[in-house]
Amino acid sequence: MSGTLSVDPTQGARVSASGVAPHVAIVGAGIIGLSIAWRLVQRGCRVDVFDAGGPSQGRGCFAASRASAGLLAPGVEAEPTEDALHELCLRSLSLWPAFARELEGQSTIPLDFRSRGSLVIALTRDDVKKLEHTHSYHEALGTAQRWLTRAELGELEPNLEATALAARHLPNDRQVDPRAVLVALRDVLGAHGVAVHQRRVDAVALGGARPMIVTELGQLEADYIVVAAGAWSRSVGGIPDEWKPPVHPVKGQMLSVELPDSTPLLQHAVFTPRVYLVPRTSGRLLIGATVEDRGFEDGVTAGGLLHLLEGAWRAMPAVESARVVETWCGFRPGSRDDAPMIGHRDERLLFATGHYRNGILLAPATADAIAMTICDQAEPDWISAFAPARFDADFAGFRNIQVPAHAAL
Ligand code: GLY
Repeated sequence: MSGTLSVDPTQGARVSASGVAPHVAIVGAGIIGLSIAWRLVQRGCRVDVFDAGGPSQGRGCFAASRASAGLLAPGVEAEPTEDALHELCLRSLSLWPAFARELEGQSTIPLDFRSRGSLVIALTRDDVKKLEHTHSYHEALGTAQRWLTRAELGELEPNLEATALAARHLPNDRQVDPRAVLVALRDVLGAHGVAVHQRRVDAVALGGARPMIVTELGQLEADYIVVAAGAWSRSVGGIPDEWKPPVHPVKGQMLSVELPDSTPLLQHAVFTPRVYLVPRTSGRLLIGATVEDRGFEDGVTAGGLLHLLEGAWRAMPAVESARVVETWCGFRPGSRDDAPMIGHRDERLLFATGHYRNGILLAPATADAIAMTICDQAEPDWISAFAPARFDADFAGFRNIQVPAHAAL
């Protein structure tokens, strides 16, 4: 450690009428960390973001935000027993159109936000039975959806008519390009004067009056630290063992393809029984994603690509003539119950991590929740099911953290 980080104390600080603006240090510059930073700086906080940056080993694996396909699809991802998570996903989906509009407006970077909905297709009779079951489950949840016969599906997606027997159409699902969102968020944060330090956080120091971020180049004191380091959240030093978030990496491999003349192969995001297919406006089609419990094992594998290409080809043989544009992989932050941890871990340490398959979808709601928690000194009740302390043996289903005194902004 070599002294204090050089950070301009006036950067990003818009002091409130009371003269007190919390200073927040965020560990992680994925979509969660950057969205939180954006909402906090809009509320007048001073914000510093830290991230080691770059692929983990330089062999094609990224942190989750950069690897993600950008599916905003609660109508597909919701599982029975995950009602609270489903509600949070719906809340965040409803925030996405305004979030995207505001971010595009402030950054002038197109986010490829698409509102055409998702299709879940069945290729065999067994698939049809499973799909009927999911359809009934979502009927009970009140999800906006429509059952499509093969002919109806063919009208929406001619490239699927030869293979699919039936489909669910989720008209309210959406997609966005997460890489564009990351660039746009960095852009708007730069305009607010927020520093995104490309620096690994060695530890957080929680013993003093104010918590500190410790890096090899120095340390920075703040009023609050928010850990939003995705799959790496557990390895942030200085967090007591019993508070470490139960987050682990879940590897996903992906590739993108396009036809030689960039004609779009699909208009909707399509979930086949094995893979999902996500069109971009450019004509590119993303094919994802494997779900692998292999720790931080880096690199795209032949087996991974075989799984993806075979899954895509079974649904849409036209993919055969597409050329491969890119292959990559990423690490989802899996949590013990597949739901995120959002809110206070103690009075000055907050978590926003463990979003697993829904990080892009949940970014707007997570950012609002953390901004309300810090700036209004009150956690919104709609994150109570996601308390970081819920895995503690003595967890009593509470929200009784004493937050430090500062004026609500
Ligand atoms: N949300 C899609 C995935 O995690 O693969």
